[in-house]
Amino acid sequence: MTILVTGGLGYIGSHTVVELLQNGFQVIIVDDMSNSEKFILDNIEKVAGKRPVFFPFDLRRKELLAQVFDAYEIDGCINFAAFKAVGESQEKPLDYYENNLFSLINILQEFKNRNISNFIFSSSCTVYGQADQQPIDEDTPLKTPESSYGKTKQMGEEILKDFATAYKKKVSLLRYFNPIGSHPSALLGELPIGIPNNLVPYVTQTASGIREQLSIWGNDYDTPDGTAVRDYIYVVDLAKAHVKALQKLMAETSETVIDIYNLGTGKGSSVLEVVESFERANDVKVPYKICDRRDGDITVAYANADKAERELGWKAETSLDEALRTTWEWQKYLESRK
Ligand code: UD1
Repeated sequence: MTILVTGGLGYIGSHTVVELLQNGFQVIIVDDMSNSEKFILDNIEKVAGKRPVFFPFDLRRKELLAQVFDAYEIDGCINFAAFKAVGESQEKPLDYYENNLFSLINILQEFKNRNISNFIFSSSCTVYGQADQQPIDEDTPLKTPESSYGKTKQMGEEILKDFATAYKKKVSLLRYFNPIGSHPSALLGELPIGIPNNLVPYVTQTASGIREQLSIWGNDYDTPDGTAVRDYIYVVDLAKAHVKALQKLMAETSETVIDIYNLGTGKGSSVLEVVESFERANDVKVPYKICDRRDGDITVAYANADKAERELGWKAETSLDEALRTTWEWQKYLESRK
């Protein structure tokens, strides 16, 4: 089976490509390298023992995309390619709508025209906004996300539901909670551009001295220690869920399938707990200061991921400490490359 993985050199994409290769899939990556580097392709090969086919182009280039579909018999797609910076999306909403949605539609057009099914979409827990209940299951009502980034995820889901219904296709919408960590080989991980927005890369860079101190955005939330609570899911566990979701879609006998799964650990951790866990796992200090809340942040979000366990036979297995240990190993690897 041959799977197109868009954004396959990115953070979650690269880990998923490894899992696909290790499970016997052929992989074709399309990635415009806007948030990755070529050495990731070499490292995928080192880890998986196989080199995926790779095309460096922007998925808005329809004619190049068509050539890939002409050249290979593609059985499915996992679509990671997207802009993902929440703050930036508020400044450049049109860039986000254009990049995230046009590229999605271009692939779906090829699927429609060539009679291909099996499409997996990277969605996010951002589609729930600040949910009225915790943990969040898949039936929790959606709220319009504050950011344009979040809106592209919600719109992407709607596009895929219509696509599956109208053209009798199989789709899986995977709602990630907060992905963290790096591959145990320390050869794959997140490559934040510039100053990281997300917590764990910022913690890591602070521990290594690249950043002076971590700003904790608010300690006056209605949570046990006052800092905001999220569900941090180890990226390799997350990558494995993609393979399971794909295998399930492929095994489905019905023509039309719309699967939706929350992918999280089911456990909430506060910002302070993440800092403490990082310090414990790696025996390093992370200097921090408490600051005002960050605009647009929610208080708490953690998953009920029972549906994924029931239907995919998947559950998160890696502890927060272990995930944060791998992050530190990756940071040391990055520094050794300089
Ligand atoms: C956000 C998005 C999510 C997206 C993810 C990846 C929303 C509601 N969530 O998640 O959809 O997939 O980014 O880009 O839009 N924090 C600090 N100091 C820092 C950085 C973060 O205290 O320097 C805190 C934040 O306030 C938050 C927690 O750490 O409470 C996690 O933040 P972050 O890693 O940015 O992820 P989310 O905002 O949860």
